[in-house]
Amino acid sequence: MLIKTPPTSAARECEVTPEAVYLSRRRLMSAAAGAVAASILPVRADEGRYTDVEPGASPAWFSEKLSSVRWQAVTAGEEALTPYPDVTHYNNFYEFGTNKGDPARYAGKLEVEPWSVMIDGEVARPGAVSLEQLVQPHRLEERIYRLRCVEAWSMVIPWLGFPLADLIKRAEPTANAKFVRFESRVAPEQMAGVRSGFSLIDWPYVEGLRLDEAMHPLTLMAVGLYGRVLPNQNGAPLRLVVPWKYGFKSIKSIVRISLVAEQPRTTWEGLAPEEYGFYANVNPQVDHPRWSQATERRLPNSLFNPNVISTRLFNGYDEVSTLYSGLDLQKYY
Ligand code: MTE
Repeated sequence: MLIKTPPTSAARECEVTPEAVYLSRRRLMSAAAGAVAASILPVRADEGRYTDVEPGASPAWFSEKLSSVRWQAVTAGEEALTPYPDVTHYNNFYEFGTNKGDPARYAGKLEVEPWSVMIDGEVARPGAVSLEQLVQPHRLEERIYRLRCVEAWSMVIPWLGFPLADLIKRAEPTANAKFVRFESRVAPEQMAGVRSGFSLIDWPYVEGLRLDEAMHPLTLMAVGLYGRVLPNQNGAPLRLVVPWKYGFKSIKSIVRISLVAEQPRTTWEGLAPEEYGFYANVNPQVDHPRWSQATERRLPNSLFNPNVISTRLFNGYDEVSTLYSGLDLQKYY
């Protein structure tokens, strides 16, 4: 983003192609092994949906939830999923570095157990809750959402999570609550990007939503993707996903959720307000000062298949437009 911005035309082939190769090799291997393995593999709780993705180890709280998941509660129509290797190896998580491969390389160091989240501010029931307590009352849903980064690339990701609205309701917001402020974990000893003297970010990474945006049924608290627990590089153990906004609103590794009366100062808006607005609604008609937002590069792509598609207002989630009736989207970008 601000610190390191490749031109939109600059495809990062070195990062994408090896993963595509890796994936096709995995497909070949699993096809060959399939006949033998079918009889001895344990039944997968994701009902065998993502056979290209190793089930992996999951914490107990997550495994217990898998049998009751509402699969495909929201889909992205005919749009193809971005392969798991791309979703998990082409990331923005500046706490671990500014290169797209840094989070996959270094976020394994992040200790995600135990994890607790402070819920405070304008609520009748403030307090710290463990991740297990926080997730326990919710049935997980799979939501296949488009993710559009402000850098003009995009993916389609099958998240597992629950509506943020349900969590907020349980905290019982007071009449003064008008915005929700989110804070990410800061652990310098585990995060080279936080230790770095070159980072412009004033940690913690902070994001915010208007209360009605936070309560919108599309706004998701994610704890998994591709039928398995959230990888660290994607924001384990708890992240926000707001599919109609640029990806930087979808804050990772959340440790604090505060209901507040005033619009919070957020990380990217604070760094460069003329480039990154508080709203950050995906909008092909409002260009970034340094590049167009009219199109996006859908991963996976390659030199011979740039896979450039038109960007849609609100990332195609037209149902949110009523949240902004009367708001000048050129001014409040
Ligand atoms: N959250 C934190 N804490 N730190 C970050 O650097 N990057 C944001 C967002 N959430 C970021 C973050 C940006 S710019 C994007 S595009 C998305 O995470 C990327 O999510 P992904 O890596 O899972 O695709």
